[in-house]
Parts: sequence; C-alpha cells; structure tokens
Amino acid sequence: MSAEGFGPAASLAADRLPHTPAWVYLLRCADGSLYAGWTNDLARRLRAHRTGAGGARYTKSHGKSAVRLAYAEVCADKSAALKREAALKKLSKSDKEALAADWAARSRLTVRMATPDDAADVVALYNWYVTHGTQTFQYELSTEAEYRQNIAEVLEKAPFLVAYTADGRLAGYACAHPWHTRRAFAWDVETTVYCAPDVLGQGTGRRLYTALLELLRRQGYHNAFALITRPNPQSDAFHKALGFTRYGVEKNSGYKFGRWLDLGYWAYELNPPADPPAPVRLQLDEAEIELVLQDCTVV
Ligand SMILES: CC(C)(COP(=O)(O)OP(=O)(O)OC[C@H]1O[C@@H](n2cnc3c(N)ncnc32)[C@H](O)[C@@H]1OP(=O)(O)O)[C@@H](O)C(=O)NCCC(=O)NCCS
Repeated sequence: MSAEGFGPAASLAADRLPHTPAWVYLLRCADGSLYAGWTNDLARRLRAHRTGAGGARYTKSHGKSAVRLAYAEVCADKSAALKREAALKKLSKSDKEALAADWAARSRLTVRMATPDDAADVVALYNWYVTHGTQTFQYELSTEAEYRQNIAEVLEKAPFLVAYTADGRLAGYACAHPWHTRRAFAWDVETTVYCAPDVLGQGTGRRLYTALLELLRRQGYHNAFALITRPNPQSDAFHKALGFTRYGVEKNSGYKFGRWLDLGYWAYELNPPADPPAPVRLQLDEAEIELVLQDCTVV
C-alpha cells in the first residue's frame, strides 16, 4: 500500500479546531504590568518567558517565573500578528486591562464529569491530533458514535473529565480505562489526556490530571499507566511534573507521517500495594466527586 493510503483521512470534524499559525498575547508580570508579544507557538513562548531561556528582556527583568498569560488572540499569519502586536503595544493601560478582564472571563474553566452528549466536542479535539500529530498512533478518525459509547463505558469504572471554558469551548479532557482485562489487573488503569491546541501550556492539563488522579486514588486503583509516543517532549515533561516515572521505551514501535516512533511507558502509584487489595469502588458518590473537582480548581 502507498504511504498516502496509510495517512489519516481528511475530515470536516478535524477542521472544527483551529490551526494556530500565529498569536498575539499579553503577559501579566510580577509587578502587575502587561507585556505584549507575538508568537507562532504560544505554549513554547510562554515557557521561554517563564524560564528566561529565549524570553523577552522585559519579562526577564519583571519576575519571569511569575509571568502569566493575561490575553491571547489567534491571528491569520505572522504578518497579521505583527500588526496586531503593534496595535496592542499602543493601547492605553486601561484598554489593555479591559481586554485582559474580558479574556479572563471567557477563559474561566469548569472541570466536570463528561456525559455522552460531550462526544462531539471530545471527538473533534481528539481527531485534531489524529490528523495533525503523532501524539496518537491512530490513523483513522474516530466518530461521535464511538465516543458516545466510549464515554459511557469509561464512566462505568473510572472518571471521564472535561474542561470547558466559560464561552463554551472544550479546553481538554482526561479519562482512564482498564489497563488489561484479566482480573489480576483490576487495580490498574491507563490514563489519557488531551488539551485543545490553542490552550496548551496554560494549566488545563494539570487541572484535569490532578483531579483524575485524585478520583482514581479514592476509587482504590493502585497504578496509573500512561503510554506516550516519542518524541512528545511536552507530554514527557507534563507526566514527569505530575509525578509519573518512565520505566521503559519500546523502540520504533509505530510508523506515522513517514517516520518510526518510539513508545514510552510511564507509571504513577495511586495507592501502595495493599495485601490483599480492597476491591475498587467503581462509582464514587456525587458529593465526593464534587469535593475533588472543587479542590482541584486551584492548582
Ligand atoms: C500534554 C498536555 C496534556 C499537557 O497539558 P498542558 O495544559 O499543556 O500542561 P500544563 O500547562 O497543565 O502544564 C503542567 C506542567 O507540565 C509541565 N509542562 C507542560 N508543558 C511543558 C513544556 N512544553 N515543556 C516543559 N514542561 C512542560 C510543566 O511542569 C507544567 O507546570 P508549570 O506550568 O507549572 O511549569 C497537553 O500539552 C496536550 O494535550 N498535548 C497534546 C496532546 C498530548 O500529547 N496528550 C498526551 C498524550 S500521552
């Protein structure tokens, strides 16, 4: 079969999420001032500002590690972003503050348990990565019907969390399903997390995963495993930051977009191995779930 025959099919579903060729943004610095910039990779640029490695001189001298995103706007291309950046820089402080306040209100996240009716949004997000990236080895697009079923099945045993912005965009989701089907594996889950390409590096993944891991811990699962295709330095760094440890790499495990890719195996101990282990609580009560989701609002 030709390489073309192996590629993921084009789909309108996958086009529902934006390609993000360029951005303008405002950063809130430690002293309260707002810095305007542009970038073609918002997550990487934010990290550069925070670490000082390649960030702007202004943010370096204004409490770099404390800078946080205060406004972000997608532009058609670099030239549009440069024009918009110049316009942002000319705005008065109060106009910049108004933009930041409106953006903060629109971007406020709510993390909740998914329902099958979220399937259209979830599959659109996932299919974006099927079509545009190697974070998943999947070639063919998933369908809304598959995800309706998937969400319902996951919820029988584990959380399926979604994070929505106040203006109704799905910012990300995280879920867990059985690691293997044999009974001896009943205390193990595989975890998954995907954030929309326009919110990467802004804390959505941490919010979702912190809540997911705490819910799984309360259910009595012992181990969470994650499979991370390589290279995916962002997901590697994310899982490490959340407490996972890499314990193995399968070399040249998958082939996608014309290259061989490795698969990293990561583990996180949810509960120490009790002997004998208590049965997993397949369902937590509503009040306990609410408590965890509220606690994970601030991370
Ligand atoms: C991986 C992913 C879920 C992380 O979510 P996120 O919202 O972008 O990450 P967060 O902003 O919550 O970051 C949490 C921590 O992870 C680490 N991290 C995240 N992105 C990083 C990066 N690009 N470089 C280094 N560290 C990074 C940091 O320690 C960060 O904490 P900090 O911001 O306090 O320093 C998200 O980037 C994503 O969906 N990527 C594409 C799909 C994917 O790869 N999914 C995982 C499949 S295994």
